[in-house]
Formats: sequence, C-alpha cells, structure tokens
Amino acid sequence: MWGFIFDLDGVITDTAKYHYLAWKTIADELEIPFTEEINERLKGVSREKSFEIILEVGNRLDMKSEERAKWCEKKNKLYVDYIKQMKKDEVLPGVRVFLEKIRKGGDCIALGSASKNSKLILERLELQKAFDVIVDGTMVTKAKPDPEVFLQGAKKMHINPENCIVFEDSTAGIEAAHKGGMKTVGIGDAKILRKADGVIAGFEGWTPEKIVEEVLFCVK
Ligand code: BG6
Ligand code: MG
Repeated sequence: MWGFIFDLDGVITDTAKYHYLAWKTIADELEIPFTEEINERLKGVSREKSFEIILEVGNRLDMKSEERAKWCEKKNKLYVDYIKQMKKDEVLPGVRVFLEKIRKGGDCIALGSASKNSKLILERLELQKAFDVIVDGTMVTKAKPDPEVFLQGAKKMHINPENCIVFEDSTAGIEAAHKGGMKTVGIGDAKILRKADGVIAGFEGWTPEKIVEEVLFCVK
C-alpha cells in the first residue's frame, strides 16, 4: 500500500499569485523591491521565513521580532481576503481525477502543507473530504526543509516513509521529503526540481499506477 502525500500551494492549486499580491503590498509599504523572482524563493517556506527573505532583499534584517510579527499578520489578512474569494475551479488541472483514482485504488492520501490557511483553501476548493489525513502549518514546529510535516503525515496514515510518495513544487519540500526517507515527484520545471526522483508538469493524463511505474521506477 502506498501513501500519497500532497503539498497544497502550487500542487493542488496555484496560490502563489495571491501570496505574491499580498507580499507585494507589504514590500511596497516598506519600500523594498519585490519581483516574481523573489516570490519564487518564497515557495514552500513558512510565512516568517518568507518575510525574512524579503527583509534580506531590503537590507532590513535588523527589524525586531514584534514588528516582523505585525507585518506577517498584515500580509496574512490581505492573503486571506484573496483566498476567501477562491472558486472550486481553481483546483489545478487533473488533480481532482487523480485524487479520485487513488481513493478507488485503496491507497492513502495525505496533505502535507506549510500553510496555516490550508483548511480555508480546501474548503473553498471543496476538497476537504479528499484527504484521509491533513497535516499543515498549524500542526508542526519545524518548517520545510525539515521533514516533520511529511513524517507526521506518514505516521497518521500508518504507512512507512519509504512507501510514501510526496508531490511537491518547491525545492524546500523535495529536500524535506528526501530527509524523511520518502520518494518524490516534482510538479513543475525539471530544471528547478532536479533533485526530485521524477518530475511531471501537472497531473493531467497521469494515474497513480503510471506515476509509480514510469516516473519513480523507470530506467533513466
Ligand atoms: C507554503 C507556500 O505552502 O505555505 C509558502 O508555498 C507560504 O509560500 C507557506 O509562505 C505558509 O503559508 P501561510 O498560508 O501559512 O502564510
Ligand atoms: Mg508548494
């Protein structure tokens, strides 16, 4: 039996655009330059770490932790306003069918996300019932690239890490899954996700069996 563990942002749905808009507002107020390239570096990392990267770009790492917390809270309010408006058709192509196929095959499905907003996003996408286990940013003490989020997922599914397959769009997430002894499938660009065991552009046209046979155990 396999345990399939899915990251949320960038794997199930494209929330990077909302993170970008919210962080851009904050960066503009702090007069720190913020580009799509910097946004790329925020993928997979916690809210606090994301802000640290922005402060580093702006040479503002001297900001005190209480002030950092206020900006992070403000960013989250802006972000939540965007995700509250999400529609169920914002699930990435092929994801819903892929999840249904895993369910029909009898394997286990977990969410392994850094986000503290995962419940709201799954609700907006009407996907709450698609996961047997949910582990998110509200439940872990260590963020990716630490494997905690995925190891908790495996434990709750009662499946050994070596029988877990993690789907991730970020390098921090791929690193986390490997540290936890799991197999990895990168979602997106193979040049960026070169450490993943296999990379696919998206779920359209893929079945769980095809992933195991062609992506993870193919002769490269
Ligand atoms: C990850 C995103 O899934 O969640 C990161 O890729 C984000 O960009 C992190 O910073 C935390 O999300 P949230 O919703 O708790 O601010
Ligand atoms: Mg992600």
